[in-house]
Amino acid sequence: MTTMKPTTLFLSFLSISLAYAFPSFDQIQPKTPALPTLLAPRRIDVSGKHAFVPPSADDMRGPCPAMNALANHNYLPHSGYITVEEGTTIPNLVWGFGVDFTELAILLAQVYGSGDGVHFSIGGPPPPSLVPASLFDGQGLSGTHNTFEADSSPTRGDYYAFNGNNHDLQKPFFKSLLAANNNSNGLISGGIIDHRIERYDNSVATNPYFFFGPDSMVISTLTHLFVTNVLPNFDPAHPDGYLSDEDLYTLYGFSIDNDGNLQYNTGHERIPEGWYRRPVDYTHVQAASQIIALGKAAQRTLTPGGNMGEVNSFTPMDMAKLTDGAYTDKTLFEGNNTICFCFQVLQLAMPSQVLASAAFVAGGDTDLLQKWGCPQMKKLNEEMYNKYPGYKKRY
Ligand code: HEM
Ligand SMILES: *[C@@H]1O[C@H](CO)[C@@H](O)[C@H](O)[C@H]1NC(C)=O
Ligand SMILES: *[C@@H]1O[C@H](CO)[C@@H](O)[C@H](O)[C@H]1NC(C)=O
Repeated sequence: MTTMKPTTLFLSFLSISLAYAFPSFDQIQPKTPALPTLLAPRRIDVSGKHAFVPPSADDMRGPCPAMNALANHNYLPHSGYITVEEGTTIPNLVWGFGVDFTELAILLAQVYGSGDGVHFSIGGPPPPSLVPASLFDGQGLSGTHNTFEADSSPTRGDYYAFNGNNHDLQKPFFKSLLAANNNSNGLISGGIIDHRIERYDNSVATNPYFFFGPDSMVISTLTHLFVTNVLPNFDPAHPDGYLSDEDLYTLYGFSIDNDGNLQYNTGHERIPEGWYRRPVDYTHVQAASQIIALGKAAQRTLTPGGNMGEVNSFTPMDMAKLTDGAYTDKTLFEGNNTICFCFQVLQLAMPSQVLASAAFVAGGDTDLLQKWGCPQMKKLNEEMYNKYPGYKKRY
C-alpha cells in the first residue's frame, strides 16, 4: 500500500454516496445505494444482454461466486476488471447485498487487490492485454490471501492446502454443502451452521498452515451466511428464500455434460432462470443474530487462532492479550460479546482504521455497539499473529 491510498479511498467514499445511473440496467431502476429496501423489480433478467456468457481465457474470475456471476451476466464488465464504484453499487442492485457489506468488501478489494485504487480484478492480476504492464495493476481478489480471501471458505480450498489455488471450488466441500442442504433448503433451516463447522474442522485437520486470525474468522463466517441469505431465490412463493440443489449447481458453475454428468467449470457461476433477489437488503443487522446462533452451536468457529505448522495443532489466541483486556476467553461468548467482537474487528482490523469504521457504519446504526452493550476494544494486538506460520506466509 502506498501513502497515496488513504486519499484515494476517501475520495471514493465521498463518491459512493451519490446515486448513479446505470444505462445497462433494463429492469432495475437506478437508486441511491443507501436505501435499505429494494424498490425495483426483484426478478433479475438473465436473458438478452444479461444472458450467461462464459468467461474467455483473458476474462478474470476468482473466489467470489457472486462477483463471477455478475461478470458472466454482463452486470459487471465481462473482463472481470471493475471499478470500486461498480463493485459497491451493482452487487447491491442485483443480489440485494447490503451497501454496508459492499462498502466493506470494496474497501478490502481496493486496498489489497487494486493497483490504482480505482480498478481491481475479481480474479488474478489483469493481463497486459487489458492493462499496460507498465502500470502496477494490483493482484486482484485472488491475490488477497489473509488480507481478504480467507481459509475455511464454504467451497474454496485453503491457500496452502491447495498449492495457492484459493479460488476454485473443491468438489468435496461442495458435496458437504449439498449434504447440509438435505435435498432442498436444508441449508437455510440451519444446515449452513453444520457446513460451517465442518469446513472449520476440515481446515484444522488438513491444513498445517490454517490461519484463522480475527479478520479471516469474521470474513469466512460471513461468506457462509451469504450462501443462505443472499444466494437463495426469493420468488413470490418463497418470501424466506429457497435454495434447491439444482440452483446451487447453477450458482456455483456446474453444467451437465453430454453423458449427463455434472461438471464443474471454473468461473462459470450463473444466476438461475426465474431468480428473485431478497425483498430487503441483507445487512449486518441480520448477520448479527445469525452469528450469535453460530456462536451457540460451536464456539470454536468464532475463536481466533491457527495451526502451528502441523495439522490438528490449532492454538487459540489469548483473547485478553489480543484485545488488551477488552475480552477474555470466557467473556467472548457472554451477552452480545460475540457479535461485538466481530463487528469491532471489521472496524478496527482494517488497513485504515478511521476510514474503515466510517465505511461500515455508513450502512447502519452508528450506535450499534452501544445498543449491544459492547465492551470498548481500542485495538487488536496484531503482533500476536506472527507466531502462526500461516500468517507469516501471507501472500
Ligand atoms: C461487493 C463486492 C464483493 C467482493 C469484493 C467480494 C469478494 C469476495 C472474496 C474475496 C471472497 C473470498 C472470501 C473467502 O475466501 O472466504 C468472497 C467469497 C464469497 N462471496 Fe463475495 N464479494 C462481494 C460480493 C458478494 C455478494 C454480493 C455475495 C452474494 C451472495 C457474495 C457471496 C460470497 C460467497 C458465498 C463467498 C464464498 C465462496 C465459497 O467459498 O463458496 N459476495 N467474496
Ligand atoms: C432432511 O429431510 C428429511 C425429509 O424432509 C427430514 O425428515 C430430516 O429431518 C432432514 N434432516 C436434517 C438433518 O435436516
Ligand atoms: C444485546 O443487544 C440487544 C439488542 O440491542 C439488547 O437489547 C440487549 O440488552 C443486549 N444485551 C446485553 C447483555 O447487553
